[in-house]
Amino acid sequence: MTQYVIEGGKPLNGTVTISGAKNAAVAILPATLLVNGTCRIENVPNISDVRLLLEILDSMGAEIRRLSPNTIEICCRNVRESEASDALVRRIRASYYLIGAQLGRFGHAKVALPGGCNFGPRPIDQHIKGFEAIGAEIELQNGYVCARAGEAGLTGGRVNLDVVSVGATMNIMIGATLAGGTTIIENAAKEPHIVDMANFLNAMGAKISGAGTDVIKIRGVKGLRGGSYSIIPDQIEAGTYMAAAAAAGGNVLVQNVIPKHMDTISAKLREMGAKVTEYDDAIRVERDGTPLRRANVKTLPYPGFPTDMQPQIAVCMSLASGVSTIRESIYDTRFGYCAELNRMGASIKVDTKIAIITGVDQLHGCTVHACDLRAGAAMVIAGLAADGTTVIEEAEYIERGYEALISKLHGLGATIKRIEMPRGAKSRSAG
Ligand code: EPU
Repeated sequence: MTQYVIEGGKPLNGTVTISGAKNAAVAILPATLLVNGTCRIENVPNISDVRLLLEILDSMGAEIRRLSPNTIEICCRNVRESEASDALVRRIRASYYLIGAQLGRFGHAKVALPGGCNFGPRPIDQHIKGFEAIGAEIELQNGYVCARAGEAGLTGGRVNLDVVSVGATMNIMIGATLAGGTTIIENAAKEPHIVDMANFLNAMGAKISGAGTDVIKIRGVKGLRGGSYSIIPDQIEAGTYMAAAAAAGGNVLVQNVIPKHMDTISAKLREMGAKVTEYDDAIRVERDGTPLRRANVKTLPYPGFPTDMQPQIAVCMSLASGVSTIRESIYDTRFGYCAELNRMGASIKVDTKIAIITGVDQLHGCTVHACDLRAGAAMVIAGLAADGTTVIEEAEYIERGYEALISKLHGLGATIKRIEMPRGAKSRSAG
């Protein structure tokens, strides 16, 4: 088990560089199965979720070379039609992309049902609906998703998603790329990583248009060739450092970002009283001693306020004057971390999908645990803003999605250290 120990109560000052987007990387890496050639992928975040996916691809026969900490060459030409290891697959939600990728590559797939952070039920019915629409037959058998192209092969088709799903949109795009005909996804998700996936596939020879709108068109092509691609910066990692600067105070330049992707987060922090300045590929967040102001947030699909920033903004609200509310509209439950924040002196009442947060003057360090990846990030922010010592248990969750968090925070003047506990290292799932 990993612990983070933070001596808080100091403002953050300096520059932090944002890594590549986790939720783009964990989709693009499985999608390399479709490519007949070598993909050179840059700006790959060096996080444990990515390392796990690379381990899965390696076990399937992919040839992987790490050219630098963030550049990977991957060639899946000799990948066998074998099943990916269940034990590895169940540890990461993004392994569901192996269904679309294997279906597209081999015409069939058998993948263990994925794990993931526990935010209540996380079905994959929309992925299945999409695969069926493009000509696959799907069966769920003893914890596995079994997919097989029908007699006519993957034909492409039209699918209207019942819920806006990031995973289903990307998985259908992957599955449909090499289909015999054209696929239309209606009510598609519009997150930046959807556009990144389309750009990656197009760079390898796919014909995808409309990504970033709610209608995506995929004209099937016969094959994909190798090439180079650089993953976009991580919107949520950037938002996390922005929220940290707002909560702890100080002056932080968050660089290697696409400011447009940050619009709702920047707007919310401005509304709460932080000074947010945009540059071409950076954002500065400043807050002096003036307390933050209350605000309301409702999580929504992009371009709305991201659910993956919900715990982090809750820390800012815990320190704001007045009563703030958060309405979670993506997941059934994502407020497990509120009890941990309350242990630090926050005043949060949760009523199913709404958190009512009464601001307090100060949070106080104590021992808390990271319930999941973003909850863990929120504990780090709370620890930075709190007085005294905060110990975050089960911090390995955080390392699924944040590259070099400790050294990046050292660069901002924070006092934080990582301790590897000797016993009981548990396997965690995230995403
Ligand atoms: N949903 C269905 N059926 C489906 C798919 C989704 O009902 O077939 C529902 C979900 O239960 C949820 C909503 O639709 O209520 C949205 O789920 P979505 O499919 O968009 O989420 P996901 O693809 O499982 C990804 C990210 C999450 C992020 C969500 C929303 C990955 C690996 N995970 O999950 O990231 O919260 O999109 O943006 O890309 C994180 O990074 O911390 C994280 C949890």
